[in-house]
Amino acid sequence: MSTHPTAPWWRDAVVYQIYPRSFQDSDGDGEGDLRGIAQRLHHIADLGADAVWLSPVYPSPFADGGYDVADYIGIDPRFGSLRDADYVIAAAHELGLKLLMDIVPCHTSIEHPWFSEHPERYVWSDREGPRNNWIAAFGGPAWSRDPRSGRWYLHSFYPEQPDLDWRREDVRAAMAAVLRFWIDRGVDGFRLDAIDRLVKDLELRDDPQATGPPALPEHGEAGTLEQRHSRNAPDIGDALAALRAGAGDDALLVGEVYLPASGLAPFLEQLDVAFAFELLHAPWDVTAIRAAVEVALDPAGAAGRVAWVLSNHDCPRLPDRVGCENVRTAALLALTLPGLVFMFQGDEIGMADGPGREPPDDRAGRDRHRHPMRWDDDVPHGGFTRGLVPWMPAIEVAGGAVKAQRADPDSLLSLYRDLIAVRRRLGDGLDFIAADDGVLAYRRGPNHVVAINLSQDARAAPAAGRLVRATHAHEHAAGSAAPDRLGPGEGFVAIA
Ligand code: GLC
Repeated sequence: MSTHPTAPWWRDAVVYQIYPRSFQDSDGDGEGDLRGIAQRLHHIADLGADAVWLSPVYPSPFADGGYDVADYIGIDPRFGSLRDADYVIAAAHELGLKLLMDIVPCHTSIEHPWFSEHPERYVWSDREGPRNNWIAAFGGPAWSRDPRSGRWYLHSFYPEQPDLDWRREDVRAAMAAVLRFWIDRGVDGFRLDAIDRLVKDLELRDDPQATGPPALPEHGEAGTLEQRHSRNAPDIGDALAALRAGAGDDALLVGEVYLPASGLAPFLEQLDVAFAFELLHAPWDVTAIRAAVEVALDPAGAAGRVAWVLSNHDCPRLPDRVGCENVRTAALLALTLPGLVFMFQGDEIGMADGPGREPPDDRAGRDRHRHPMRWDDDVPHGGFTRGLVPWMPAIEVAGGAVKAQRADPDSLLSLYRDLIAVRRRLGDGLDFIAADDGVLAYRRGPNHVVAINLSQDARAAPAAGRLVRATHAHEHAAGSAAPDRLGPGEGFVAIA
């Protein structure tokens, strides 16, 4: 909910990402599904989030966790049916939650009927073998041989994900119709997957060897080339315009544009916001975090049209990435930045990475970030499934499951809920202020100050008035004077 009467609903919104396979199982088959999501939506509404993003629920052979779509306007039977999708959309709206679908426009599944019925919609090599030296995002050549035709096709990700040719009008029209289909069913917007890969060099030229580290982390081998031609072509506008036309002006379009914030401008001509990936990858120190925030807010670049994100289904979970001792300040940081913010299911209870699967479900090693939600420690499988075998174990969480944390005012979950409420009251803009070494401090609007100790020692806190919310409320209650020292992993939002 925005404090600006004319602003779109998403301006300062909190979007809660659901990884459907791991949220809630309703039928006992050990995998999450749409009916299960509907049962648990009140948890998200209680947190105070504004919207839900569903990772893909479409029919898929699941070579890439559903990001290999075989039918953009259907529902995979493992998740339910279109009727169940309608039910979830309606249930979300009843609770005041908007709903975003995940659209994967860059590639289809190799099992999508288009691949056999409309091969012309894909990108093919003009020779018997790879057309160029491009490397796929998860390693290996970005070209594979289609055994049926003997021709070689491009895949920016797994070989099971052939890339569509977005310079074709029929591809653009077909995908625009997909967005329209979901808008007509009532969804409020889309997270657009891997949009920087949508359009590549017209001549399919080789990528040059990298001369330094990539701007954003790449999976192993993919970072050995500078991805100059294999992504981010200058004529991206036509493709994005088609997506916008399909979605309509009111739909929220959030781009997964895997580029530094300084390169987002051409995408933001059609998209509302793009993820701020520098922040997601920033090491947990003041210089890096401050730089990541500044570049995203830079008026000459992304100008704050970003979706902040610290966690998603592709990355190590927060306790593993920033350390258990810093999950509270991570919440404080993400939820006090100006604009739209995304959180990943389980962040609010401090879910950590779990063991991988053997053999792996995801060949790129991301299974361990995708364990089922832990709802209740007193029932089998944490309440995720009443079946005998969850697809991955619902591992215990150090701070307890949702049920225990909900009742505890000092829990991480309570911190998330309180910060989401506080966030509505923070003013416009963000100005960094001087603070002790290792302390990140900023003003929000005229009235609020945020201070976060990112160091491993106690530090002086910047001057502030009454506390609005501290990370450790049992020691520093709301309404009391802001402390003049912050222990490691501590922070607050206070009246300036
Ligand atoms: C995005 C998704 C990731 C997927 C990839 C290919 O980065 O977040 O899970 O593997 O796109 O679709």
